[in-house]
Amino acid sequence: MTALALPEGSNSLVKKHLSRKILTRLEHRKTDSGFTLAKAIRSGIKNPDSSIGIYAGDAQSYHTLSPLLDPIISEYHGFSKTCPHTSDITPIALPLIDPEGSYIRSTRIRVARNLKGFSFPCHMTLSQRKELEQNILVALRGLKDDLKGKYVSFEQMDDTAFQRLKKEGLTFEKGDRFQEAAGMNADFPKCRGVFHSDNNQLLAWVNEEDHLRIISLEKTSDISTVYNRLCRALPALNSRLDFAWDKTYGYLTSCPTNIGTAMRAGVHIRLERLASKKNLLQVLARRWNLQIRGTRGEKTRVENAIFDISNRQRLGISEFGIIQNLYKGLLAIIAAEKNL
Ligand code: ADP
Ligand code: ARG
Repeated sequence: MTALALPEGSNSLVKKHLSRKILTRLEHRKTDSGFTLAKAIRSGIKNPDSSIGIYAGDAQSYHTLSPLLDPIISEYHGFSKTCPHTSDITPIALPLIDPEGSYIRSTRIRVARNLKGFSFPCHMTLSQRKELEQNILVALRGLKDDLKGKYVSFEQMDDTAFQRLKKEGLTFEKGDRFQEAAGMNADFPKCRGVFHSDNNQLLAWVNEEDHLRIISLEKTSDISTVYNRLCRALPALNSRLDFAWDKTYGYLTSCPTNIGTAMRAGVHIRLERLASKKNLLQVLARRWNLQIRGTRGEKTRVENAIFDISNRQRLGISEFGIIQNLYKGLLAIIAAEKNL
């Protein structure tokens, strides 16, 4: 058995696609920054219950490890990298889905971004993380009007301040065991922090799973306003930061599930009746290519019938395409809930 063997019984995509032939082809490859197959699959080896099990350590990983990453990407996104990825981040105007707020508690849209020229979070030195944080802070300081706000560094934050941010849903925490095994928690909490606009509707998480998670959110079903805020914040940040991008893979991220648009657009929605008809909810979600997560984020459980419903596919679809599917899917789900 080779040291790179994935655990027996694992159903991860990396286990499925890492054939002996691909292993032999990739095991001695290295990116310019020294990232290897062994490092990429650490998390999948340590965590047999991984669904994916692989992370990229830098932008070049997507090319160096493409014989393994490409089939994983095609299977996850349902899309082979046959044509260039196009991005369409322009303002929209859609009617409110749930004007009375009977179902939708909040809407949240996030994109992941990494900066060109830096390794990704599972493969960074402390000094790179520091330099990166400084570059990001300069860009965040340039945000104007309703987008302006303040950066709270994890190193300077006391527990009371952290609990307050957590209660308001503004912060992230130390990475989970999947991220830990990948090396993403190195030097935590150093060079990590959260930017929040004065109205708490725009957030930027620094040095979490990706260099930046840029998040727009509010406690309404107003997808257009939430999306349009992101449409304003992204070019403002991009004018000062150079994002890692590839013409076929789109925006490059640590996890291959996030490449392409790197966008997850979703709502917290209370579905009291569908909560006891989970199969029907799954059918509807699949029809609109949506994913269901728990109330407190990925790999958590649904509490008080509050589901997190968001897009699953991020590559091979534009940002606007994602919003359209989410919109139509939510209308169908709310109609089903009403009919029960
Ligand atoms: P990510 O969105 O970064 O892929 P998670 O699924 O872990 O990762 O979600 C991050 C956090 O965002 C979690 O604390 C989750 O509860 C919160 N969240 C997700 N969707 C919404 C939403 N629609 N409204 C409010 N908070 C949300
Ligand atoms: N690595 C984890 C797994 O394989 C998470 C994958 C998707 N989620 C993410 N946050 N990247 O199950």
